[in-house]
Amino acid sequence: MYVLKFFFFVIYFPAILFSLTTVSSLISEKQVLLYLLRNLTLPDSFKSSWNSSHSTPCRWEGIRCDHRRRITVFNLSGYGISGQLGPEIGQLKIVKKIDLSFNRLTGVIPLELVNCSQLKHLDFSVNSFTGGLPRNLEKLVHLRTFKVYHNSLSGEVPESLFGIPHLKFVNLSSNNFVGSIPLSVGNCREMQDLYLNDNNLVGVLPESLEELELLTHLDVSSNHLEGRIPLGLGKCKNLIELVLSGNSFFGEIPRSLGNCSGLRTFDVANNRLMGDIPLSVWKIASLEVIHVHNNSLSGKLP
Ligand SMILES: *[C@@H]1O[C@H](CO)[C@@H](O)[C@H](O)[C@H]1NC(C)=O
Ligand SMILES: *[C@@H]1O[C@H](CO)[C@@H](O)[C@H](O)[C@H]1NC(C)=O
Ligand SMILES: *[C@@H]1O[C@H](CO)[C@@H](O)[C@H](O)[C@H]1NC(C)=O
Ligand SMILES: *[C@@H]1O[C@H](CO)[C@@H](O)[C@H](O)[C@H]1NC(C)=O
Ligand SMILES: *[C@@H]1O[C@H](CO)[C@@H](O)[C@H](O)[C@H]1NC(C)=O
Ligand SMILES: *[C@@H]1O[C@H](CO)[C@@H](O)[C@H](O)[C@H]1NC(C)=O
Ligand SMILES: *[C@@H]1O[C@H](CO)[C@@H](O)[C@H](O)[C@H]1NC(C)=O
Repeated sequence: MYVLKFFFFVIYFPAILFSLTTVSSLISEKQVLLYLLRNLTLPDSFKSSWNSSHSTPCRWEGIRCDHRRRITVFNLSGYGISGQLGPEIGQLKIVKKIDLSFNRLTGVIPLELVNCSQLKHLDFSVNSFTGGLPRNLEKLVHLRTFKVYHNSLSGEVPESLFGIPHLKFVNLSSNNFVGSIPLSVGNCREMQDLYLNDNNLVGVLPESLEELELLTHLDVSSNHLEGRIPLGLGKCKNLIELVLSGNSFFGEIPRSLGNCSGLRTFDVANNRLMGDIPLSVWKIASLEVIHVHNNSLSGKLP
């Protein structure tokens, strides 16, 4: 009898414990969404879909779960949602995609977001978020896509953003970011798209950009950047779009840019560049758009 009880304890007790924790994490993720809902105004179609008497939220509009019924996708893009995003978002521990783009969300991006440690895709673009970006962004080690364009975000671009090792697509454009572009940007060797345009950034283009060999799109237009265009940009051989217009870049256009042999858009208009447009740039066969007006360029067109 004693032995039997012992076996019951060893074999069944962990199983009971396991199923209890699974159930409680289910309830808590449903609860997390219901907490978030309290500060959001969702359209009517959600009222029947987000039904609190359902056992799991897995069939709710905008939600996807894995086979263990834990939330992996939270996508409420383009529903015209208003309100604020609560700190409870950080309790979605295995969520991989959060897409809240094209809504009317206000308030700050909760710091707790960095606790969604499995996040690969984050899109808060086209809303009215204010305040700075969360610190400790480097905790999001799996992040590939970080888009927050067209909000009212402010403060500096945190160094920690570029501490994320596999970052590929970054769009911070059309906000009120200040300060300079962190040197750490060169750490993101997998970066393909980097949009920092239409902010209030100052300082120079970091030399470390030359490390980004996979970069295809670089847009830093309409900021207050200055200094020379780094020679090393010519090492970004995969560049398709290079947009530096509307800053105060001075000096000459580097000949090395001729090495960006797939370039289609070359826009350096509205700066203080001088000298000629290098022949090596004219020779890029793929060029479709070249904007150089409002500079102090000289020389002949070949
Ligand atoms: C919510 O779900 C319950 C049962 O699952 C159902 O009886 C009820 O009608 C649903 N409510 C709405 C508003 O759809
Ligand atoms: C979110 O859903 C919209 C359609 O409603 C889709 O266009 C978009 O790609 C989805 N986002 C993600 C990250 O899958
Ligand atoms: C959510 O709403 C409650 C009351 O409606 C408020 O006290 C709280 O600050 C709000 N939280 C967020 C993150 O907006
Ligand atoms: C992240 O979660 C841990 C516990 O898992 C908690 O201690 C910490 O306060 C959370 N961080 C934020 C920024 O919410
Ligand atoms: C980046 O942001 C701009 C808005 O400034 C937008 O027009 C563009 O489509 C975005 N690009 C990507 C790839 O996210
Ligand atoms: C292109 O890159 C090579 C090294 O890969 C370098 O030697 C050469 O100077 C560069 N071309 C231009 C036009 O800068
Ligand atoms: C020329 O570019 C500068 C920025 O370098 C800008 O302030 C000025 O408005 C531009 N002039 C015209 C006519 O666009």
